[in-house]
Amino acid sequence: MLALGPSKDKSIVTALLTLNQASCHFGRGASAVKAVDRVSLTVAPGEVLGLVGESGSGKSTLGRLVAGLLGCEHGDITLAGERLPKRFSSRDFRRHASRVQMVFQDAYSAMNPRMTLIDCLVEPLKLQGKFRGQESALALEWLDRIGLPRRFAQRYPHELSGGQRQRVGIARAFISGPQLVICDEPVSALDVSVQAQVVNLLHELQQETGVAMIFIAHDLAVVSHLADRTAVMYHGRIVETGGRDLLRSPGHPYTQALIAASPGGESEGEWLEGEGEALEANSLMPPADQGCAYNLRCKWVVERCRTERPRLAEKEIQDKKNGRLIACHLLD
Ligand SMILES: Nc1ncnc2c1ncn2[C@@H]1O[C@H](COP(=O)(O)OP(=O)(O)OP(=O)(O)O)[C@@H](O)[C@H]1O
Ligand code: SF4
Ligand SMILES: [Mg+2]
Repeated sequence: MLALGPSKDKSIVTALLTLNQASCHFGRGASAVKAVDRVSLTVAPGEVLGLVGESGSGKSTLGRLVAGLLGCEHGDITLAGERLPKRFSSRDFRRHASRVQMVFQDAYSAMNPRMTLIDCLVEPLKLQGKFRGQESALALEWLDRIGLPRRFAQRYPHELSGGQRQRVGIARAFISGPQLVICDEPVSALDVSVQAQVVNLLHELQQETGVAMIFIAHDLAVVSHLADRTAVMYHGRIVETGGRDLLRSPGHPYTQALIAASPGGESEGEWLEGEGEALEANSLMPPADQGCAYNLRCKWVVERCRTERPRLAEKEIQDKKNGRLIACHLLD
């Protein structure tokens, strides 16, 4: 069970991960990019949270904040009740990595090209000091688990196909038994023919291990297949979150546009053409804390949208509340 925003919900107490007004800006002053802008959310143990939004909306930055690869300058992030440091020392990072792991879009860049596969798999265990003395045996078991022959143990990353390499990337993330795995577009760089197999592997591993997951993707169909709940990001903010019905009955005008522009949607492929003018206007967008970040593109915009930032709060969709949180004045 996941809840977002300030809440007295029980899941807050049992949350594995809590972001409270977490922010990450690049640059300073008026030209700063608010890549993550006061995001509050929780993820419960074992929960899969899908994270969607157009390119540049801040999904990877949010993932990297939670993974400890970036510091959270404002607000705070808590994992299993412990607040993460603003800046990680190498010792802090090692400790954090034993609980939170990441699967990247480009598995190759996450591995040392001079290491054999067995060494690639043993590396996180050595770094984290886990399963001492059993590292190699465990690495071989993981080769079995991801469907690669054990004779591949002495191969190098460049000797694998993209799909095989991503399987190793996934094994590296799971091998040390983390509590949370962040997958940042793990199949977008793969051939369509192997995407489904890799998604299925992730799904099976999540079910077997009960790990919590943040699954970042552009493919809304994959997200709705995997995720218990989905959060929609726009311009560094979460604009909507909800359960499995979210992608069928989107409430926020941005979620509606995102779904309409996705494959099979009513304006499939028209995102750039249809929104061209608005996208241009987007570059002149006022600072994110002035009003609704979507106000230059929204066809429902009212005066209040230009001055007052909408709060993420529970709203009714099709006359039901269903735990749907939406940041939009229209639905107040
Ligand atoms: N290291 C950085 N330095 C400066 N700006 C950055 C940096 N990383 C990200 N940004 C900016 O922060 C914003 C969010 O980027 P981010 O990569 O998180 O988006 P995203 O949602 O993951 O996009 P995509 O779907 O294309 O991967 C963008 O405007 C991006 O240009
Ligand atoms: S708050 Fe206003 S501009 Fe923002 S999505 Fe809602 S109606 Fe549109
Ligand atoms: Mg990204």
